[in-house]
Amino acid sequence: MKAVPPPTDATAGGTRSATSMRTHLCGELGEADIGREVRLCGWVARRREHGEHLAFVDLRDHSGIVQCVVPGTVEARSEYVVAVTGVVRARPEGTANPDLATGAVEVGECAVEVLAAADPPPFAVDDRVEVDEAVRLRHRYVDLRRPRLQANLRLRATVVRALRHAMDRQGFCEVETPLLWAPTPEGAREFVVPSRLHHGSGYVLPQSPQLAKQLLMVAGLDRYYQVARCLRDEDLRADRQFEFTQLDVEASFVDQEDVLGFVSEAVLDAAEAATGERPAAIPRLTWADAIDRYGTDKPDLRFGMELVDLSATFAGTGVKAFAAPAVKALVVQGGATSTRSRLDALTDRARQLGAKGLAWFRVGEDATLDSPLDRFLGDDERAGLLTATGAVPGDLVLVVADEHRLACTVLGQLRVEVGGRPVHEGPYRYVWVVDFPLFDGLDDAGNPMAAHHPFTMPHPDDLDLLERDPLAVRSQAYDLVLNGWELGSGSVRIHRGDVQERVFAALGIAEEEAAARFGFLLGAFRTGAPPHAGFAVGIDRLVAIFAGEESIREVIAFPKTQSGADLMTGAPSPLAPSVLAELGLVPKRPRGAGPDGASPGTGAGR
Ligand code: AMO
Repeated sequence: MKAVPPPTDATAGGTRSATSMRTHLCGELGEADIGREVRLCGWVARRREHGEHLAFVDLRDHSGIVQCVVPGTVEARSEYVVAVTGVVRARPEGTANPDLATGAVEVGECAVEVLAAADPPPFAVDDRVEVDEAVRLRHRYVDLRRPRLQANLRLRATVVRALRHAMDRQGFCEVETPLLWAPTPEGAREFVVPSRLHHGSGYVLPQSPQLAKQLLMVAGLDRYYQVARCLRDEDLRADRQFEFTQLDVEASFVDQEDVLGFVSEAVLDAAEAATGERPAAIPRLTWADAIDRYGTDKPDLRFGMELVDLSATFAGTGVKAFAAPAVKALVVQGGATSTRSRLDALTDRARQLGAKGLAWFRVGEDATLDSPLDRFLGDDERAGLLTATGAVPGDLVLVVADEHRLACTVLGQLRVEVGGRPVHEGPYRYVWVVDFPLFDGLDDAGNPMAAHHPFTMPHPDDLDLLERDPLAVRSQAYDLVLNGWELGSGSVRIHRGDVQERVFAALGIAEEEAAARFGFLLGAFRTGAPPHAGFAVGIDRLVAIFAGEESIREVIAFPKTQSGADLMTGAPSPLAPSVLAELGLVPKRPRGAGPDGASPGTGAGR
């Protein structure tokens, strides 16, 4: 191995990247380095041989690719790990490669040393090559070599650093909370860890550090945060994984305004670090307005198409389909060209979403309405529909008449499906949604269900309604939404045992059950609990949007597939009978166990 002295001056650009094995990174070489002898380490991205006396090796490390010219043959093939020693020089006239950051130069007179041989790769390490996701995940270590995923992981680190820095600056203290924990009722199914020492008992992996952080407030921590791993056994989607990461925040002697301030600061800092631009102050909507105007509590404000209320227009109407508590409309600009089959498909979709039907009106040139319902409309109704919606010739008006919430949510969904764009496409439009209801709907037993979680403080003006009319109680809960994705949630918490007991009662949680499940929390409150409030930001979602990715899988190093499998390790894999026995578990039906009782093997390459 030819020893190359490390660069002696700071301008060499290699001072931070130099190690005992290399002087520079591939991607940092440029014209300023011409004449410099360098030693680089990396993977062979491409090798081209021109007879016995000339070969080209494109050498790749995380920083980029540089062309190396070898006066001879090269043993190394694609993805071999090599060290290359040579001298940086300008590329010959006419051979510069403008597509490559290092394309003005090459490393000449190279000697190549193989550090590790490699099998032919399962797919090309090239962002331009489309590869089936299952194949990518099975060989994630190769997939992660691709520049796009390298950039995503580094962007993630940048975002997390900015979030931590913002919380530190605001006086928050990072505390780690347990992963082996007890159930917390936050709505998702939990992962259970059977106990070896207490057969039949187990721990639960936390859906979030919700109760731990509240206990830290009782403990006087005052301002807590954590970059916290959370675990939820729920159906996986583009924006959901079993394991995900929150910026989890809680503070004492604060109200909603304080929390919105802390979190805005952190998220805007992260946005600035990720995109180079600091977004403007985040606007607010009440939950009721969000539902009424956008038909969702996660409004995408990148486009208009606000819902229009036609209830007044059709009050006392003779049109049977419109005799409902609410009549809501959505205008699709230029939508009058929609064919009957397109309109039928929209109607089917509305039914699928729970509506009894969908009325449509194609607005003609002279403001006539083309619709099967037109002949039932009175002149006032026809004029009212056009005035209220502002629809002009060429537009399509979609109408749903139903209970207010249902009419809004159906049209809200159609709004996104007809007019929306993928979440990760700019611009970034943040919005705080505030004043959520405390409860949202009834469960099978007829009890109200917590809209956020049972530790959320009712709105002070609505406390009286808790027993009388629980579904009308507003809460002090708030969400942060970005481009139609819920980025985070939080609330002012209940810090008084008596209020907590009333909320448990409203939820149908009996006193004994509350004592058994949350006795520790109620007991903690009795020792002196400060008023407190908090929030959690979904970091995976935030990074995916900044990275321009449609799925959070692209910003997680080792994600699970849609069916919850880790294709690389083979997890979940059958547990050996000896492991099951030790945990006191008896499988109902051994799954996938081999004749000798399969061991929890790695399953790599499956
Ligand atoms: P919540 O359950 O709303 O609130 O979660 C907060 C944020 O976490 C993200 N998130 C997820 N991200 C990826 N995969 C998932 N399966 C997943 N589930 C949730 C979302 C969501 O907005 N303890 C409360 C917060 C609090 O009240 O302080 C909580 O966890 O971005």
